[in-house]
Amino acid sequence: MVKINDGILITFLDFLKEGIIIVDDETKTIEFVNRFAKKFLKDEDYIGKNFKEVIENDYITSLISYNQEKDVKAEVNIDNQKYLINVYRIEGKKIIHLQDITPFEVYKQAKKDFVSNVSHELKTPISVLKSAVETIEEEKDPTMIKKFVEIAKKRIDQMDHLINDLLILARLESQEDQVKKEKYNLYKQIEDIFEDLKHLTVEKNITLINNIPKNFEVYADEQKLSIALKNLVENSIKYNKQDGKVIVNATKDTKNTVITVEDTGIGIPEESIPFIFERFYRVDKSRSRNIGGTGLGLSIVKHITEAHKGKVWVESKLGEGSKFHLKIPNN
Ligand SMILES: Nc1ncnc2c1ncn2[C@@H]1O[C@H](COP(=O)(O)OP(=O)(O)O)[C@@H](O)[C@H]1O
Ligand SMILES: [Mg+2]
Repeated sequence: MVKINDGILITFLDFLKEGIIIVDDETKTIEFVNRFAKKFLKDEDYIGKNFKEVIENDYITSLISYNQEKDVKAEVNIDNQKYLINVYRIEGKKIIHLQDITPFEVYKQAKKDFVSNVSHELKTPISVLKSAVETIEEEKDPTMIKKFVEIAKKRIDQMDHLINDLLILARLESQEDQVKKEKYNLYKQIEDIFEDLKHLTVEKNITLINNIPKNFEVYADEQKLSIALKNLVENSIKYNKQDGKVIVNATKDTKNTVITVEDTGIGIPEESIPFIFERFYRVDKSRSRNIGGTGLGLSIVKHITEAHKGKVWVESKLGEGSKFHLKIPNN
């Protein structure tokens, strides 16, 4: 049997990011309050006082007063935080355990929002696809048939793109998918990305410029960084103006490598900047969808950068252009 002295136990309880209050069940007085739980009290002077006089929240005091043989469990909102409260009866004492469950609530909400966003993003192309197919079925005119086949194809591409991005995100979030770093040539990687995206530059005559020194090496997960940089370059092409430019550059010091993707495009409104790395956020939803955007690209970029223990940020001026910076450590 391990013997724990009170000092160690109290230090430990004060260390916890959860609240503990001990009340004597007979005298109804407070015997102990750990550091975290002090925020639930009216003042510092509480030892030996009746718990109803000292505990601020009436719902908590009613849970403690609740006289049942069983332990009590409930959730309560206090100052925009959500707490799970357990009241245990042990040897003539009531032990009140308070846990801040706000992060779980935020997570649960994010998950709900995500599912409803995905359903919404799929619903639109599916309904367009459905009516296009119905029209094709009845249409006799070959030019009209061709037109609706094109519409159907565009929506299929949109769904394909969304599912691909969702799979990338799912893989990034799964524990098995770890970052595998190696040294490789960044100049060459950007050349490959430009080659892949060349077809998108035709319509607006966009020039792609690779300013990275030919022998520049980066220490990163080649596949993952390629996905991130491709997303940035693709955005810089898509959100560009007629005859615009996309310029990629990289610098390195002893600690970090910073890769920049700069464009002469439409820019991002200042008030939107804090949100653009969030899933499904777009400055202009219909324009983004029309040019094949899923709203997931920058959240994928952020995920990949953070998996490399790096940071990504943007400087942008509306109507003039944007410059994305991706910084990753060299080791
Ligand atoms: N280079 C850029 N120039 C202007 N706006 C951009 C740029 N990159 C991203 N954005 C804005 O940020 C939003 C989110 O980008 P992203 O996550 O890649 O989604 P999308 O699929 O819409 O491209 C875009 O819809 C667009 O409004
Ligand atoms: Mg994008």
